Amino acid sequence: MNVSQDILIIGGGIIGLSLAVELKLRGASVSVVDRDCKQAAARAAAGMLAPQAEKIPPSPMLDLCLQSRALYSTWVDRLEDITGLKTGYWRSGILAPVCQGDWEDKSSLPNLNAQWLDADTIRQHQWGLGEEVVGGWWYPDDAQVDNRALFRTLQFTIKKLGIEVIQDNSVEIIREANRVVGVETTAEKLKADRYVLATGAWSETLLDIPVYPRKGQMLSVCVPESYEVIQPLQTVLFGTGIYIVPRQDGRIIIGATSENVDFTPGNTPTGIKKLLAGAIKLYSELQNYPILEFWWGFRPATPDELPILGASAWENLTLATGHYRNGILLAPVTAKLLADLIENGKSDPLLTAFHYSRFRKNQIINIKSPSL
Ligand code: GLY
Repeated sequence: MNVSQDILIIGGGIIGLSLAVELKLRGASVSVVDRDCKQAAARAAAGMLAPQAEKIPPSPMLDLCLQSRALYSTWVDRLEDITGLKTGYWRSGILAPVCQGDWEDKSSLPNLNAQWLDADTIRQHQWGLGEEVVGGWWYPDDAQVDNRALFRTLQFTIKKLGIEVIQDNSVEIIREANRVVGVETTAEKLKADRYVLATGAWSETLLDIPVYPRKGQMLSVCVPESYEVIQPLQTVLFGTGIYIVPRQDGRIIIGATSENVDFTPGNTPTGIKKLLAGAIKLYSELQNYPILEFWWGFRPATPDELPILGASAWENLTLATGHYRNGILLAPVTAKLLADLIENGKSDPLLTAFHYSRFRKNQIINIKSPSL
């Protein structure tokens, strides 16, 4: 295998686009087929780069997340250089306040930078926290990116690099024996030497693979114009079932519910009420801020909440899906490791833990044939 082959990436979300850019920059001929990028989870996310705040235990998943967090600054610099656009990458750190009655976990992951702050110190760190906050963890190496700005930058990078994106509302994978031989759309049959499945929460509609939608509702508020500073909140706040993510332009993103409701669209009063109550408890300062927007998205969840990366049951189909809560964080490392795999056929040992076969021992994953 080498990068002289034609590669077709199925899925135009953050994972598909990041891999397309990486492959193209390595000299591959690559194109993307996509149903509707407006539905991509990347647009709905908050953009936290938070392996420590998410409390991912020591595991290959933590290693993958830390590797990706370390790649981020160079990765976004490259996209910004190509396009002249900004991604809003901000090494803001993440503060994880603990409220009265919360379970106080005072352990931290070994060998990682983290500091426990008591009730007084945490208030010196961030003004405006709720009265119930009794202390918390400070994770200076966790960060954030403006996921919508990043997604726009990736889309523009794709355009600048001349990568073709085929939009079609129907996509079907055609196979013969142990190979994929094409992708049928309404308009045409697309052919390539190698295919990549990067269809996030919609993966199960194309392939019999255990990836399910986990809905997240979100909203945003903005700092009132009368304030002397554009953004008084200078770090992400990560609480129990709630996070508050400031942007440097004065917006504040509040997320997120976690609901098993299939692809049921829309915001609900219950979901939004829960988010507002959690946000005010953590950062009471925002209770009178004007509301800007409500939205929702679908995380691609798997049974063990880990991504599915690497080889599939078809020798020319690579899997890049199931990133669940960490798609924005894992985009750079997914692009790097899968481009290495496609370029020279060598699988990084880190990919072993994310192989599809962990779900279906002795079973082949069958390709389905409905539209994407
Ligand atoms: N990454 C945070 C979430 O999925 O809600």
